Amino acid sequence: MDFKTAVASEILTAMKTAFEGAELPEIETVAGALEVPPDTALGDYAFPCFKLSKALRKSPMMIADALAGAIHADFLGKVESVKGYLNFFIDKATYAEKVLSLALEAGEAYGADNSGAGKTVVLDYSSINIAKRFHIGHLSTTMIGNSLYRLHRFFGWRAVGVNHLGDWGTQFGKMIAAYKRWGDHDTVANGGVDEMVKLYVRFNEEAKENEALNDEGRAWFKKIEDGDPEALEIFNWFKSVTLKDAERVYDLLGVKFDSYAGESFYNDKMEPVIQILRDKGLLKEDQGAQIVDLSDYGMPPALILRSDGATLYMTRDLAAARYRKDTYNFDKSLYVVAYQQDLHFRQLFKVLELMGYDWAKDCEHVAFGMVSYEGQSLSTREGRVVYLDDLLHEAIGKARAIIEEKSPELENKDEVARQIGIGAVVFFDLYNNRIKDIDFTWERALNFDGETGPYVMYTHARACSVLRKAGSEAAAPDFGALTDPCSQDVVRLIEQFPDILKSAVNRSEPSMVTRFAVDLAQAFNKFYYENKVMVDEAGTRAARLMLTDATRQVLKQALYLIGIEAPERM
Ligand code: ARG
Repeated sequence: MDFKTAVASEILTAMKTAFEGAELPEIETVAGALEVPPDTALGDYAFPCFKLSKALRKSPMMIADALAGAIHADFLGKVESVKGYLNFFIDKATYAEKVLSLALEAGEAYGADNSGAGKTVVLDYSSINIAKRFHIGHLSTTMIGNSLYRLHRFFGWRAVGVNHLGDWGTQFGKMIAAYKRWGDHDTVANGGVDEMVKLYVRFNEEAKENEALNDEGRAWFKKIEDGDPEALEIFNWFKSVTLKDAERVYDLLGVKFDSYAGESFYNDKMEPVIQILRDKGLLKEDQGAQIVDLSDYGMPPALILRSDGATLYMTRDLAAARYRKDTYNFDKSLYVVAYQQDLHFRQLFKVLELMGYDWAKDCEHVAFGMVSYEGQSLSTREGRVVYLDDLLHEAIGKARAIIEEKSPELENKDEVARQIGIGAVVFFDLYNNRIKDIDFTWERALNFDGETGPYVMYTHARACSVLRKAGSEAAAPDFGALTDPCSQDVVRLIEQFPDILKSAVNRSEPSMVTRFAVDLAQAFNKFYYENKVMVDEAGTRAARLMLTDATRQVLKQALYLIGIEAPERM
């Protein structure tokens, strides 16, 4: 349980006594209605009783009066009924005691409720393209998706992570043609995606001089479409080589998927979609192509079939959406994809709606901004591509050097360097509101003092070290020692953690958790600087250790939820 829920539970108990037989609201509703008054003279928390007037058929004033007389919980301190509000004046020491005890009792589950129980969310994230290298343009989708996956599970949802592979398109016919002409098995098997890209580049170069090559490419693509065994074998092998490369990056990042059903998976699932569109009179011919006219909704038409009968990205996404609904019966379906595809998703959801699927409203495009690197945009054409595995290994290397300098005695340096390096990159990626463009710079990602992953991780390790040195503490905590502003700031943040997590999941915004982690780390460091933990007075020491322990636990959990490991020593 968290603090707000504890307050709400007391209000409900009082309601039972004061209004016997009345229908009680949900505890989440009561907790959600609690307010922090703008002026502390009005109390530390307030409950607006007008929210109950309709159900209880009484004026807010009468409700507040009755409830004030019926609440007896010590931790709520003084309770006043003022103009239809129930105001609580909570004593600072009791507040600290209650918040920290609740957090530590709940342990890893602190902040979670069962709001997702029985519900399913499908998350489409990372969704890389076959035969292309994993570059930092795919970092945000991977890490936002991973965090949303963890957050939903934390709240009891069943989460299905889908890597909607970009594994369809005429380029794969060209790649096979190139492979048949110039490639050999071992070179591609050992060189991975890089070798495939080389083949593709060579194909396009030579095709400029030799038009016949393009026919060859088309012919191979036709073979893939027709399910020719040789074509499929080579194509599937390209896929597995790409995935093996990507898998290394996913392992480093600690990211997992439940399904790799990509675009080609829907080859045999588009016919029904086209049929439904036709039956509903939604399909129109436009210069030989089949489209859905969306001009009534202020959008260009959705392209369903090209004039040569080929299906498109849109056609596959329509089939994928239906398949996901049929297979997982989701309550929510999220697409974590760059904002450049905003129009595509608006069109997709509109066509689903026109097809008569009321679940179209449960589909959402979780858009995010662009990543540039050290001030340079990432344009493949100009060759300034930053590959994710290079970036991650560089981060690990830099973290290793910092460890060597700061803590040469550390035992498992390689392991910790990996955690810090990866954590720095991930934290940086998830630090800003997702829609903002970000510029990745080493200076800001790896700074141990700034608002960075290493800073938060370091604060967590510091809390661990304080606790380790203290050993087990037998004395009863004196919560009176936690009434100073610095301690109270930490307590308040710990109290707010559950609400932050709820907002983060409701708004699909992991950065709320990232920001929170920085706030808590800063507040704790301030507390630590102002207050000595290991004082002689046993009650004070025990209380400060308890605050340290709760901070450690919450920081660890916050980092986990954004996809970062928290080493205990660094
Ligand atoms: N492969 C696409 C890309 O890299 C992203 C796919 C997103 N998912 C989807 N269902 N359209 O841009």
